Amino acid sequence: MKRLTAEVLHVQPMGAEMACLALRLPEGAEMAQPGQFVHIAVPEDRAHLLRRPISIYSVQGDVLMLGIARKGEGTKRILQVKPGESLDLIYPLGKGFVKGASRRVAFVGGGIGVAPLRYAMEKYADADCKAVFGYRSKDLIYAVSACEKTGAEVVVCTDDGSAGVHGLVTGPLEDWLKGGQVDLIMACGPTPMLRAVQALALRYQVEAQLSLEEHMGCGVGACLTCNCKVKRKDGEFGYKRVCADGPVLDAKEVVFL
Ligand SMILES: Cc1cc2nc3c(=O)[nH]c(=O)nc-3n(C[C@H](O)[C@H](O)[C@H](O)COP(=O)(O)OP(=O)(O)OC[C@H]3O[C@@H](n4cnc5c(N)ncnc54)[C@H](O)[C@@H]3O)c2cc1C
Ligand code: FES
Repeated sequence: MKRLTAEVLHVQPMGAEMACLALRLPEGAEMAQPGQFVHIAVPEDRAHLLRRPISIYSVQGDVLMLGIARKGEGTKRILQVKPGESLDLIYPLGKGFVKGASRRVAFVGGGIGVAPLRYAMEKYADADCKAVFGYRSKDLIYAVSACEKTGAEVVVCTDDGSAGVHGLVTGPLEDWLKGGQVDLIMACGPTPMLRAVQALALRYQVEAQLSLEEHMGCGVGACLTCNCKVKRKDGEFGYKRVCADGPVLDAKEVVFL
């Protein structure tokens, strides 16, 4: 992990809600693992002193790609950057997804949470893997064609039925689990989705890794802003720091409040 300056290459719209920010990393930047994130500041921007955490969408050579939704002032300001300008990054941060010996991975994403799964699929997916991505409606869909290039089957679900399967990602996921087609789940998305994925993983006794989101301060494990409750192996409850112990945690230990 290092503090570095990256050059903005372009910002391109990606569905109705997101934009893809491409940055050129300086020489010697470490290789990020899927599920890790970058902590971003716009130099000279005194209005937003806290960095914003954004997952890694893809890394191609020295080009780092991020999928960013305009949520509030911080992300709006980041997406106003122009080609040739610079961003101040701490990169890469956190503990990401680990494939281990598992072959048949199901990648489960919802909305903005699809973004880190693209990089996870580029690193880990093949024809034995599957993905299911949920979006509120057709105009918000992104990342699907890039993920299909990995050889995995990608199923799209929409809440309003305007594209793909009408319904939640847990429908196709449960069909795969019932059919014994999955050894490992990697998931990122809104908390209700992660809670439902956790319940399915426990019911079907399949390992699952959940990428969590919490508000962050330092991003490096020092301020405890990002604590989340976990169940420890001894059965007692404790806390982990989403920035440093996560953002990817084992579904068996996460306690959703
Ligand atoms: C590990 C991690 C990875 C992330 N990856 C991505 C990504 O790949 N793409 C992306 O678009 N966003 C991602 N986010 C969320 C992103 O960091 C927040 O949307 C952003 O910090 C909001 O800043 P803002 O100034 O634009 O909005 P603010 O004005 O700070 O907030 C706008 C709204 O978003 C809510 N919000 C702010 N931060 C978070 C957060 N961390 N989690 C949930 N809600 C939040 C606020 O409560 C408020 O309702 C990630 C967050 C984490 C912790
Ligand atoms: S953000 Fe400071 S400890 Fe996680």
